[in-house]
Amino acid sequence: MVDSEVLLEVRGLKKHFGGLKAVDGVDLTLKRGETLGLIGPNGAGKTTFFNMVCGFYTPTEGTIRLKGEEIQGLPAHAVARKGIARTFQITKVFKDMTVQDNLLAAFALKQAPTLLSSLRRSHTRQNLEHVQAYLERVDIAAFAKVKAGDLSLGYMRRLEIARALALEPVLLMLDEPCAGLSKDATLDFIELVHKLRASGTTIMLVEHNMAVATALCDRMTVLSYGVKIAEGTPQQVQNNQAVIDAYLGEAEEGE
Ligand SMILES: Nc1ncnc2c1ncn2[C@@H]1O[C@H](COP(=O)(O)OP(=O)(O)O)[C@@H](O)[C@H]1O
Ligand SMILES: [Mg+2]
Repeated sequence: MVDSEVLLEVRGLKKHFGGLKAVDGVDLTLKRGETLGLIGPNGAGKTTFFNMVCGFYTPTEGTIRLKGEEIQGLPAHAVARKGIARTFQITKVFKDMTVQDNLLAAFALKQAPTLLSSLRRSHTRQNLEHVQAYLERVDIAAFAKVKAGDLSLGYMRRLEIARALALEPVLLMLDEPCAGLSKDATLDFIELVHKLRASGTTIMLVEHNMAVATALCDRMTVLSYGVKIAEGTPQQVQNNQAVIDAYLGEAEEGE
């Protein structure tokens, strides 16, 4: 029987690159409406795990079920069509296009075969209102006519999120959305994620920074060297000795 509360269920997921076990048998369950953090030191396997869920990597082994349906190994566009939208650690907005056109392009790609032909037809009043609504959801409506490449990094990330939301996903996946942001921009971003959570969006977030993850997540899963070493509430995870050791180990390596 499919538990309707469970949105994503991952079992025994592995990705081996030759002899390197980047992800080595990870289980994870995500419920509807939850914000789950995938955390761990650099090289733990977070991005690799994320890329398998999004269809960018084929798992070596294991299953990924979305609403009960197995999706492992499907190509990224098929996974996106099933309702998983993502952002990238390095933003992939179209920098020469305006903010507004970036979103119109997202709608167009959703609907039509070729980007340019559909973009020409996309400047309808209804589409523009639609764009405005998504930009408001991420608080960048005032920048609709600005070239995306002229936005600050934090606002580019917001634009990426707006584009992901335009796909009306059942799951929004964010890879280190606060990486490289100033302290103020990070705080603003945390506020934005709280707003998205409050509107019912289910989120999986890759985050290296424990403080940011604690501020954002209902639950966390901690990876180290490709395996899960802990999971639970931010409070439980922060006080877990294996987690403390993994992060301390990283700090020592970095010295
Ligand atoms: N495409 C790849 N080919 C070979 N090794 C990879 C590839 N992607 C990641 N790795 C390795 O897998 C491990 C986990 O990387 P990654 O998932 O990026 O970790 P994280 O996101 O937690 O920092 C690292 O040792 C990394 O070098
Ligand atoms: Mg990473």
